[in-house]
Amino acid sequence: MTRSRLRGTGSALPANVVTNAELAERVDTSDEWIVERTGIRQRYIAEDGETTSTLAIAAARAALDDARIEAGEIDLIVLATATPDNTFPATATKVQHALGCNGCIAFDVAAVCSGFLYALATADSMLQSGMAKRALVIGAETFSRILDWEDRTTCVLFGDGAGAIVIERDDASSSDSADAPGIISTRLHADGAQHDLLYVDGGPSTTQTVGHLRMKGREVFRHAVVNLASVLHEVIEDAGISTDDIDWVVPHQANARILDATARKLGLPAEKIVVTVDQHANTSAASVPLALDTARRDGRIKDGDLVMLEAMGGGFTWGASLIRI
Ligand code: ACO
Repeated sequence: MTRSRLRGTGSALPANVVTNAELAERVDTSDEWIVERTGIRQRYIAEDGETTSTLAIAAARAALDDARIEAGEIDLIVLATATPDNTFPATATKVQHALGCNGCIAFDVAAVCSGFLYALATADSMLQSGMAKRALVIGAETFSRILDWEDRTTCVLFGDGAGAIVIERDDASSSDSADAPGIISTRLHADGAQHDLLYVDGGPSTTQTVGHLRMKGREVFRHAVVNLASVLHEVIEDAGISTDDIDWVVPHQANARILDATARKLGLPAEKIVVTVDQHANTSAASVPLALDTARRDGRIKDGDLVMLEAMGGGFTWGASLIRI
């Protein structure tokens, strides 16, 4: 039994911070409404010259530094995004070229806000099957470029950013107990029947435009709490642990109220939930690795901790992954 172990994390944010008060100058909203309904206080918005790939490259470099691994030792790059630099080629290949590890496997994964969980599961499976040994798994987005800035019900919720991790197959790991470090259990789901609750109204094959994000927020909220609680239970059961064993939950940062409601459903204390939505808003596929890196660097998450990652997004897609750091 081998495991994919976490070797390093990194993240990157655009230089430009936009507060709720600044947004209220553009659309009919207020700091009070946004904080009360979402917990968001500010977001980072990419300026000209900042793209999904520039953020991804910066996050990947930080993760490699943290892992003390040279780019040339990476043999797999999986990048989750719904806002690629170009329709093709994959943004992962731009990251690969910038890092100078040309020749290794590199591709993008599209599962919107759950993209990082899907990318992590894909990379983990490829490490376990022997196709690769060391992987960069990245979530990177510039959602500001697909927002309708006239629509106050969506434009206040999202931000730009990137997070990255390095994982490595540990051939020496001989235990399949939850005490051994590495990725212990992952579960993923999708339900295409819910397409119209959260989607982008454009694309190369339909409108030949990029399109804008459209969302029925209230319904998404309802599904998110149910689906997340259910997939978290699945992973807990599969890993043979109890909720009390979990040191930290690193959730997709969509809305502070979704985080609270999910924690309550699981009986998890709020102190065990990593919250960055106040600072970053919803950065889609970037939000889980961004929050993970933030909590590792500020000393909350330590080696040996049992950490649950979870996310839900457009599709719908949702998933959770349990890792011993
Ligand atoms: N500022 C001020 N008022 C607003 C704003 C705004 N930015 N947006 C909506 N309103 C108004 C509405 O027009 C409505 O007014 P009305 O009562 O006069 O019609 C009122 O506020 C309430 O609107 P609701 O949509 O019912 O508000 P709700 O409490 O559901 O909050 C929100 C909306 C924040 C979008 C919430 O439903 C939510 O967070 N949903 C989850 C969606 C999400 O996070 N999606 C991210 C992607 S999926 C994922 O990551 C899980």
